[in-house]
Amino acid sequence: MIRIEGIAKSFGPKQVLAGVDLQVDRGESLCVIGQSGTGKSVLLKCILGLVRPDAGRILWNDRPLDARSMPAFLQGFGMLFQGAALFDSLPVWRNVAFRLRDRMPASRARGIAIDKLARVGLPPETADLMPAELSGGMAKRVGLARAICDDPGVIFFDEPTTGLDPIRAREIDALIRDIVRDQGASAIAITHDMASVRKIGDRVALLQGGRIVHDGPVAEMDGAAALRAFLQG
Ligand SMILES: Nc1ncnc2c1ncn2[C@@H]1O[C@H](COP(=O)(O)OP(=O)(O)O)[C@@H](O)[C@H]1O
Ligand SMILES: [Mg+2]
Repeated sequence: MIRIEGIAKSFGPKQVLAGVDLQVDRGESLCVIGQSGTGKSVLLKCILGLVRPDAGRILWNDRPLDARSMPAFLQGFGMLFQGAALFDSLPVWRNVAFRLRDRMPASRARGIAIDKLARVGLPPETADLMPAELSGGMAKRVGLARAICDDPGVIFFDEPTTGLDPIRAREIDALIRDIVRDQGASAIAITHDMASVRKIGDRVALLQGGRIVHDGPVAEMDGAAALRAFLQG
């Protein structure tokens, strides 16, 4: 569904991505792991068109993702940002239904938001809270509800469990796995949480030195030398 070919990106003299090749099939869940600062978020931003790569290209259903195809691509994707990134000045339901705002009356958008909140385990009363009133775990759930509000075919997760205690983190992992399965969506999750990888990933890729140095099924990850070396620091 998405194919990344030879993506390179430098900031000034510093090369962050040095030719990344990666692909995600329809309905597949890919985890990208790597040390902090290795360019995982930059890679996601390249796919989303938020950062312009110096070289390489991104294909979506075998066609280059460019200015012409980007709007349709963006229409069908959802993203859970690192740290949830909610709009502080908007109540929860307006955050969740943000993308629907110009498309339908507010009452209908609110109804959809409440359905999505239920999907992530939050009661209807949550809809009228402000982001400042949420715990970290609740904010992640709201961010997840926003990511799935428009029933996306592709969902990106940037560090979905960072900042959560282990119990909350495993709850979010379980939700992500179930939602991705129910939606039949493709997913790319960036993480350094190996418990997350085991729970939500079909495949795991290791980004190191600007390249993918390992790419294989999660079921076989324990035998992979590159991953063992990474985990042992
Ligand atoms: N807009 C930018 N301008 C300059 N440097 C950047 C920019 N975005 C990211 N970087 C640098 O790129 C490197 C990779 O960042 P990032 O992708 O956020 O890492 P991570 O793997 O932790 O997500 C870091 O050294 C970061 O400082
Ligand atoms: Mg990051």
